[in-house]
Amino acid sequence: MASVALIWVGVGHIGQYWLDHIAQHWPRNHPLELRALVSSQRYFEVNAELTWRSAQPLTALFARRAHQCSHPEQQVTACITALKQDYAGVIVIDATASKAVSRCYVDWLQAGADIVSANKYAGSSASDYYQEIHQTLKNTGRYWRASATIGAGLPVQDVLRDKYQQQAPVSGITGTFSGSLAWIFHHYRAGEPLSKWLLKAVDLGLTEPDPRADLSGMDVARKLLIVARELGWQLELPQIAIQNLVPPALREVSLDEFWRRIDEFDHYFERWRQQTYPSATRLVYLGRVRQTAAGEPQAVAQIEPQSAESVYAELADTEAYFELFEQDMTAPSVIIRGPGTGADATTQGIQRDIDMIAAKIMTHATDPENQQ
Ligand SMILES: NC(=O)c1ccc[n+]([C@@H]2O[C@H](COP(=O)([O-])OP(=O)(O)OC[C@H]3O[C@@H](n4cnc5c(N)ncnc54)[C@H](OP(=O)(O)O)[C@@H]3O)[C@@H](O)[C@H]2O)c1
Repeated sequence: MASVALIWVGVGHIGQYWLDHIAQHWPRNHPLELRALVSSQRYFEVNAELTWRSAQPLTALFARRAHQCSHPEQQVTACITALKQDYAGVIVIDATASKAVSRCYVDWLQAGADIVSANKYAGSSASDYYQEIHQTLKNTGRYWRASATIGAGLPVQDVLRDKYQQQAPVSGITGTFSGSLAWIFHHYRAGEPLSKWLLKAVDLGLTEPDPRADLSGMDVARKLLIVARELGWQLELPQIAIQNLVPPALREVSLDEFWRRIDEFDHYFERWRQQTYPSATRLVYLGRVRQTAAGEPQAVAQIEPQSAESVYAELADTEAYFELFEQDMTAPSVIIRGPGTGADATTQGIQRDIDMIAAKIMTHATDPENQQ
């Protein structure tokens, strides 16, 4: 019972990067053992001996050997139950962007797994489901960490959690919550077609597969909700004021049609810019959440103009920047700045969460009081 089993759900951009750059290099006696890889329709039970003997990368093994499976989430629950017999603990990593997967957390916790999420859906779900997850965590003594959901691997949630636990009077947080929008607006200059930088961000894999998920501002709004909840504030998604950069006529059409009509996207944005900030040369998409004097949380996700001297103009294109305010909303008391987007930073954040949970599992497993 000396090791911790991992079930990795979501073998896309992030999953493949983690497999190729992290898991692939673990030595034979590593205390973490990858035991299953799962995508939306395929399931691969990893046989450690096979993977060590094989000259093929794990991603290639998954591509060749995973079998078709219509309900992978249910198979994950069965896998947790089986692995619990042989391992000190089981951690499920949710590297999907799937709401359906996020709805399995309660079952997976009850089956005995701890969870690490890159997926934002559970953290920003409606309050009743969010509370159900937390009640289950309390009842089962399991762990759930989701550092990669905000600022890739930056310790934003850890800082907020510490402040909350110390009952520090946090009044708000502002930042570049979307790595893809920060990158796009870092390069964009007033008057250019915004799609020029959108297309480059898509090519670099910085956006969601459908970039309207980023452009809609919903991704920023979900992160603001996660932040508000870390601070114990009652907020729901519909209460957040969100600036959607996608024109209404292109919000519901297919992705192919969106790309065919990309000129409409550019015209919509340019018209808005000329009406709202005609003389601004630099723009940034910011998220702001704060508690008003009346104790109500207020959140907004929107473009704001920046001067060439502002800190946002100094940031590198993949850098994220967050300001945490205590009482005075003009002077931040904590600044968190660092690599905030991309597969490298994200998988490091995920791995840090896995390591933190695994350390707790191993401490518990080796505590003589817990030995039978
Ligand atoms: N990319 C980044 O830089 C970044 C940064 C921070 C956070 N994130 C978050 O990390 C997560 C993954 O991002 P990504 O870029 O890797 O996305 P992606 O390339 O779209 O990959 C998503 C994966 O999830 C799988 N999936 C979807 N529905 C599933 C289901 N019901 N059951 C099992 N697997 C399912 C997909 O399977 P199929 O292959 O079968 O479709 C795919 O393998 C997202 O939540 C994203 O917001 C990404």
